[in-house]
Amino acid sequence: MSSSNTLNYSCNQKLGEVIDNYKDTRGNLIPVLQAAQDIFGYIPKEAMVTISRELKIPCTEIYGVATFYGQFHLEPRGKNIVRVCEGTACHVRGGTKVIDEVKDYLGLKDGQMTTVDGAFTLETVACIGACGISPAMMVNDKVYGKLSPDDIHTILDLYREKEGETECIA
Ligand code: FES
Repeated sequence: MSSSNTLNYSCNQKLGEVIDNYKDTRGNLIPVLQAAQDIFGYIPKEAMVTISRELKIPCTEIYGVATFYGQFHLEPRGKNIVRVCEGTACHVRGGTKVIDEVKDYLGLKDGQMTTVDGAFTLETVACIGACGISPAMMVNDKVYGKLSPDDIHTILDLYREKEGETECIA
């Protein structure tokens, strides 16, 4: 893992500005963590150390908050988030095959959720509210339904082509 010296310099500066803005505000931890995640794409350990030092909040408390809320991620995530539904409606209509096909397309092995190139992260979810068009998945904010395994390559190819740079991934 990178050290604080190797985190992107401008990202560290941005984090510093956010901390300065919130330093004297009560209940500042969550907005600072949200900002850190926006800046880095996740919350690096080094950012937690900086936040702890500057806001005078123990690292253990910050870690506790960051792991309690599902919105926070402590590991780097891919530029594209693929959420495949494991809910009942999707499951009975072939959702397992969809998940297998996504893993196969992305080359994910044994518990690996993010592709080596950082282009995609796979997440499984309990329901994405699209049961009527199950099996369903989301890529970033877009919902795809009535999926067959054959659709997966076509859909994910679109995102491979669109891949842009994320400025502040440490
Ligand atoms: S169960 Fe899959 S979208 Fe609801």
